[in-house]
Formats: sequence, structure tokens, C-alpha cells
Amino acid sequence: MNPVVNPVDVGPTRVHPAARESDSVLARIRASDALQELALSALTSCWTDTHLPADLLPQLLQEALLEPDSEAAATAIAERLSGPAAPAQFRARYERARSRKFGAFARLLDPWLGRGTVVDLGAGGTDLLDALATDATLIAVDIELSDPRPGSRAALLTQIRPDRIPLADDSADTIIATGVLHHIDADVRRRLLADTARVLGPGGRLLLLEETFPDPIGATAGLDGGPPMAEYLDGDPVDLSAADTLFRALDLADRMTFLSFTDWWGNRVMKGSLAIPLPYSFLTSEQWRHELAAAKLVVTDTQNLGLCSGGGHMASPRMLFVCSSE
Ligand SMILES: C[S@@+](CC[C@H](N)C(=O)[O-])C[C@H]1O[C@@H](n2cnc3c(N)ncnc32)[C@H](O)[C@@H]1O
Repeated sequence: MNPVVNPVDVGPTRVHPAARESDSVLARIRASDALQELALSALTSCWTDTHLPADLLPQLLQEALLEPDSEAAATAIAERLSGPAAPAQFRARYERARSRKFGAFARLLDPWLGRGTVVDLGAGGTDLLDALATDATLIAVDIELSDPRPGSRAALLTQIRPDRIPLADDSADTIIATGVLHHIDADVRRRLLADTARVLGPGGRLLLLEETFPDPIGATAGLDGGPPMAEYLDGDPVDLSAADTLFRALDLADRMTFLSFTDWWGNRVMKGSLAIPLPYSFLTSEQWRHELAAAKLVVTDTQNLGLCSGGGHMASPRMLFVCSSE
């Protein structure tokens, strides 16, 4: 099954439960000049990387805001980006940016990997595992997996329960989770983290790569002095200073609305996935630490990565949490 479907092919039966929440995110943006200005500024800065014509983004944003049904809006925009009138080579450039992202993630994570078994939780597919240099046993786990890349040496495991990894106690040496946990409701997320500790057993390692809200969106250097993600991506650094100024001027509720919008845009519109849950739960780095500690996962190292410049959706800076299972 391929969850990263072309939204044009998705019938009305697949309307996602989070759609109503996304409807209200779009409605709040429609009602606020400040949010519209920020959305346009951030989209323009981020997506020039994939060579969308500059005049297209304002049109697409207006289209999204005119349509009260967010799933219909996402489908219509995705059609413009993937259909016969799509900007030349956009999809190929987008996919190249995604593969650059996985290469960058792999370079970041490889030094933390040992031998044994490495599980990518919420993997989506096998792209990240296939980019790793390690010769460990590789397993991709997700509630909805896409087809493996041809020649992949990773095993695929479908997770039936959102809070239960289908692996035995103490059976993985490392679990990786990149951009997964902020897509999961708090109670399920906490149980899934506890289950992660179960599968790791004492001394196992969790490598959590997550967004950290509400750190400024335009960070050019990591909070811990680390480099911004753009360097990992080999891409042109994204200049989000204008968006950052607009973001800082917003109150907390509007900031959250903006981040929710970027999550919707990145996953529903650009990736074309209706399968990824969007509960819009963004946590600060302190809140992540708190949740990890509650699951007996001790943070031993962190690396702040700043913003992702290509392929992904832009939001708050990302942080790598290296955790040891007690
Ligand atoms: C934004 S994607 C990230 C995919 C990939 N890790 C990456 O970095 O591109 C979030 C993924 O989490 C998966 N997911 C959502 N809830 C999950 C859960 N409870 N357990 C495992 N995976 C889950 C989704 O199916 C989706 O593939």
C-alpha cells in the first residue's frame, strides 16, 4: 500500500478526522491579515528551494483560503502541483529535496548507531534506513507504510495499534523517530514512548528528531550552538528573517495556528498524504524532555538543527534528542 498517494486519486471516503481542525486553521488564517502575510512570506522563502514560480504561491494560498473544506483545498492545490499544468519538473525537484533530507538525517544519525537492530518508528517508508551507513539489522515500522525502495535491505512491519510497537521487549538496540511524535495525540504519544522504552530495554537508545515550538522559526544557529539544518541539507540556506519578525509579533494562539498551517501545507498539500494524522501538537524542547523523562528515557545529548530548508514543511527549529533507556 502506498500512503503517499496522489491526492487527485483520493476519493471522498478518505476524508481524515483531522480535516475539521484543518478547516478551522484555514478559517483563522482567512480572518487575519497578519497570519496571511506570514503564511505568504514563509511559503515564498521555503518553496523557492524547489523552484516554484514566485507568482504561483500567492495564487495557491488564495485558493486555499477561498475553499472552506481544507481537504478539498489540499486536493485542488496538489492537482495544480502534480497535474498536467504543473510547474516543470517541480515534483522531481521536490523528491530530490526529500531524498537530500534523508541523506542529511542519515549523516546526522549514523554516528549514534551501533550494531544490532535499528528500528525506524513512524518511518513512512524505507528512505531513511536505506540512507544509513550502518550494517545493523534495519526495520521500518509505521501504522501505514509505503512500498520499500527497490533493493532496500530493511524489513517492513505494520503497526496495528498506535501505541504498541509490534516487537518484543528488549529487542531493539536503537529506535529512531523523526517528525513522528508531534503527529500523535498526547495520551497515545505518552503510551507509545513508554512502549519505545519497553522495546529498547535497559541501555537501548532512542534518537528522537522533533520540532521544538515555540522557539523562533528563523533560527540561524542552534540553541546549543549547533549548525542550522540547512547545512545538513546541502541546500541554499533559507532566509526566514522576514517571516521570523512577523512570527514573533503574533500572540501564542496565532503562532500555533501558523505552525498548524505549515504542517497541513507540508503534509496534505506538498506531500499529498491524507494518511498522516494532524493533531497539531507542538512541544517546546522542555516539554519533550519532560515526556521523555516520564517514559524513563534519559536525554544524554541534544543537537539543535535549526530549520529544514528543503522538501519538508517549515516550522519551528528541529532538535535531536539522544536518549538512553533506563
Ligand atoms: C510526517 S511523517 C514522518 C515520516 C518519516 N519519519 C520522515 O521523517 O519523513 C509521520 C509518520 O508517522 C506515522 N505515524 C503516525 N502515528 C503513528 C503511530 N502512532 N505509530 C507509528 N507511526 C505513526 C505516519 O503514518 C507517518 O508515516
